[in-house]
Amino acid sequence: TSILILNGPNLNLLGQRQPDVYGATTLADIEALCRDKAKALGIAMDFRQDNSEGALIDAIHAARGTHDGIILNAGAYTHTSIALMDALLSVELPAIELHLSNIHAREPFRHESFIARAAIGVICGFGAKGYELALEAMTAQLES
Ligand code: DQA
Repeated sequence: TSILILNGPNLNLLGQRQPDVYGATTLADIEALCRDKAKALGIAMDFRQDNSEGALIDAIHAARGTHDGIILNAGAYTHTSIALMDALLSVELPAIELHLSNIHAREPFRHESFIARAAIGVICGFGAKGYELALEAMTAQLES
């Protein structure tokens, strides 16, 4: 089993970026957490971050044949990108939508998600822990 964890725009700045909203944890810290979690679950994992929509779409396309599922924190593209939703629907891999913050408790424009329409489930509001929860959920889904 191999899972792709894909991070979208501005998540490279975690730790410095709006720490009141996103916490002090850096993306490198989160990647380390995920590596430990994947090891404990006995699965393979790739972790990447891209700021551009096209690069994220290319990564989703490339996941077909190389990965069994995608965990996607698409950042603000969550709320705008029909193209990312279409990419997920095109590759027909199970996807989990993930956010550090509880998008439903924030501005109304964050309540809408195109990614959710192409996802088996959504995890948000648990900070970095959400990445571990998403790995557990995806592993269980792939085993069932
Ligand atoms: C985010 C939530 C998005 O609304 C926001 O644009 C982000 C981060 C999160 O992880 O909480 O960039 O995806």
